[in-house]
Amino acid sequence: MTTIPQDHAVNVLFVCLGNICRSPTAEGVFRNLIRQHNLSEQIYIDSAGTSAYHLGEPPDQRAQAAAKARGIDLTNLRARQTGEDDFARFDYIIAMDNDNLVKLKRQCPAGFENRIRLFLEYAPGADRTDIPDPYTSDSQGFELVLDLIEQASQGLLEHIQSQSRLKPQS
Ligand code: 4NP
Repeated sequence: MTTIPQDHAVNVLFVCLGNICRSPTAEGVFRNLIRQHNLSEQIYIDSAGTSAYHLGEPPDQRAQAAAKARGIDLTNLRARQTGEDDFARFDYIIAMDNDNLVKLKRQCPAGFENRIRLFLEYAPGADRTDIPDPYTSDSQGFELVLDLIEQASQGLLEHIQSQSRLKPQS
């Protein structure tokens, strides 16, 4: 079980299938963004996979390399699987694609369904609803993942800020 500090105003969990490509990339990109906005003490971020395929593994080397080229360090992340406790702990449970959204909704205890969202809901300019699984793609697939995650991260942060649960930053 992950221990998370209870002192954050907002808790965000990014979810994909393996937790080695898309969701750790989202975790790293979003963490960088909230650091830039001086919100690290108010927003807690984690990621997980709906499968147990890669438990304990670091992010895929291709995901790490693509993120590093944009100044984002994923080296310390390790894959874990989503668990029932996550639905009460996280305010936003952000699925990378519809397959994982459906899996999360099946796993979700009653009353927490509204916390589960598709990430690209927050990127209205994107021409798709799913962040495509890059695992069997080439490096272009990982660049597309990063492009989409950067767009959606901006939109998710604006959404969280609009909910007025954060203290204003100087
Ligand atoms: P992710 O990518 O869900 O973005 O971490 C994948 C990683 C591994 C597998 C599938 C997708 N796999 O089948 O092992």
